[in-house]
Amino acid sequence: MKKILIIGATSAIAEATARCYAKEGAMFYLLARNEERLASLASDLKIRGALSVDYSLLDVKERANHEQELLRAKDTLGNIDIALVAHGTLGNQGACEEDPEVALLELETNAFSTIALLTRLANIFEKQSHGTLAVISSVAGDRGRASNYVYGTAKAAVTTFCEGLQARMFKSGVHVLIIKPGLVATPMTEGLSMPAFLVAEPALIAADIFRAIEKKIDVLYTPWFWKYIMIGIIHIPATLFKKANL
Ligand SMILES: NC(=O)c1ccc[n+]([C@@H]2O[C@H](COP(=O)([O-])OP(=O)(O)OC[C@H]3O[C@@H](n4cnc5c(N)ncnc54)[C@H](OP(=O)(O)O)[C@@H]3O)[C@@H](O)[C@H]2O)c1
Repeated sequence: MKKILIIGATSAIAEATARCYAKEGAMFYLLARNEERLASLASDLKIRGALSVDYSLLDVKERANHEQELLRAKDTLGNIDIALVAHGTLGNQGACEEDPEVALLELETNAFSTIALLTRLANIFEKQSHGTLAVISSVAGDRGRASNYVYGTAKAAVTTFCEGLQARMFKSGVHVLIIKPGLVATPMTEGLSMPAFLVAEPALIAADIFRAIEKKIDVLYTPWFWKYIMIGIIHIPATLFKKANL
């Protein structure tokens, strides 16, 4: 029976992943900032088979609260087999270009908070000498694109941080999974015009995450074909890339 901490637990991808583990009778500690949605998710997971579901409120931008919330989660679960870090915002790129404070706020939510949380979690996991830190980054971090380079910068920072963490935590038997979804139909992407054939449902992403955690994979592109799309994008020469509407 797995003991699972989820940060940004009300994310559509996180919820779908939690359901995969609820079926197995997992114990959950959920952190998110919307109490009503947390309560509803907790009941849903219990109905689906979770052994226990505790939760607490956390706005990840409130870094001063990170330590106490993570300690509370650890005390409740005893030890943590899996920590899934899922929160994020797809900010308005235009607004970030207008005002550096908006850009920095996006970096706070999508990168600095994640790095701060992972720094504390890594120390907890290192002492435990087991478990998986699963972190949702994005294919957007693989190459800066004009349409979302502030978000992409944040995800690139998270990916690079996690690569370093993988090398550090490997020595303690701790698995670090970097998750790079492509386009997923969630509230984050609602209203965006996206080619339908490239958009995946959260349940499919969740099944991939579940498998990647169980198989201790290092980097997950999900769905799988995004690995090849991103190889293509990374290799577009800079002279052409600048002119493309990507
Ligand atoms: N959807 C995609 O196409 C896609 C692609 C690549 C990567 N991702 C990544 O996947 C992860 C999950 O996103 P999703 O697609 O499942 O979207 P989502 O359903 O909109 O989930 C985003 C979650 O982040 C939470 N969040 C945002 N700011 C927060 C804060 N300051 N404190 C606490 N929680 C906060 C939101 O909580 P509230 O409901 O309270 O705002 C929400 O639960 C994100 O890291 C995202 O960047 C998504």
